[in-house]
Amino acid sequence: MSFKVSVQPAGRDFTVEPGQTILDAALAAGMILPYSCRNGTCSTCRGRVVSGSYDAGPAPDRILDPADRAQGYTLLCQARPSSDVVIEADEVRMSGDIVVRKMPVRVQALNSLAADVVELTLQLPSAEPFRFQPGQYLEFLFKDGRRRSYSMACAQAQDHRVQLHVRHMPGGLFTDRIFGAGDEPLKVRDILRIEGPLGSFFLRDDDRPILFLASGTGFAPIKAMIEGMLMRGDRRPAVLYWGGRRPADLYQADLARAWQDQRPEFRFVPVVSDALPEDAWTGRSGWVHQAVMADFPDLSGHQVYACGAPAMVEAARHDFVRQCGLPSQLFYADAFTSEADRAEVQA
Ligand code: FES
Repeated sequence: MSFKVSVQPAGRDFTVEPGQTILDAALAAGMILPYSCRNGTCSTCRGRVVSGSYDAGPAPDRILDPADRAQGYTLLCQARPSSDVVIEADEVRMSGDIVVRKMPVRVQALNSLAADVVELTLQLPSAEPFRFQPGQYLEFLFKDGRRRSYSMACAQAQDHRVQLHVRHMPGGLFTDRIFGAGDEPLKVRDILRIEGPLGSFFLRDDDRPILFLASGTGFAPIKAMIEGMLMRGDRRPAVLYWGGRRPADLYQADLARAWQDQRPEFRFVPVVSDALPEDAWTGRSGWVHQAVMADFPDLSGHQVYACGAPAMVEAARHDFVRQCGLPSQLFYADAFTSEADRAEVQA
């Protein structure tokens, strides 16, 4: 039996089929609600069920604690209604020429950015332009049904090509292939299949100063956003905090410094958590989101775009909102979830 989902404050309705999640039904109906991982590990799709019954599905306590659940908060990528429901969630406005498609792509180049990070360039079909908002991601579709998500690290598809930043996760289905550790190493000219663009992580049309927060290869979509700002001549004040364990993890720090030189309204703050003596690190040390809080104890007038490990993103969301007064709806995030994160949800 299908049910009706009514979304507040947008005032829109759509139908959810038996067993379908609220997020999947919304996307099928052409309504974009905030989402990222679609597997219950990132909290981007968090919304509130105001009335009606539903199966909430699994969610780790670090994302939804018992008090949240008691108030009706749930992950819309996991929640399956068992009656008509009314939910509170923000609708995402997306440019009308962005169409999600499945397509074959060819590996055009594999360039090393660091010992464990590769820039993967994909050649897209030239028949139809691949349009996306800087910050969005695509998914590789594998024959066994598995998918892997990567953000575009460029502001647009130049010459029908996009770049992704891939970190080696030893034992990882796809990254072992890229780093030549699997049975079937990925080579230039290999054909893969993708779906995209996906996600709701992109710059909003909002004059508030921007705070970008990245850990590791979470830099990729933020690079796309900043390059998009440079291309458009967008002069909103912005600061990028990029964190890694060692200085080498900030694999394009020189590029970020170059943006700072080009654009007086932009600042780059590299933060390293586990520098060794041989690194001779003299910059900021510690956890990247705590460096932000030290510099911006009051975030009530900011908007934040965060991308990286789920633990960093969740800590930033929690602490920026509760300790620094950031309005929760102005924290936009994308989390890079791993097999271990997915396993935590299934446990
Ligand atoms: Fe639902 Fe990530 S999109 S938890």
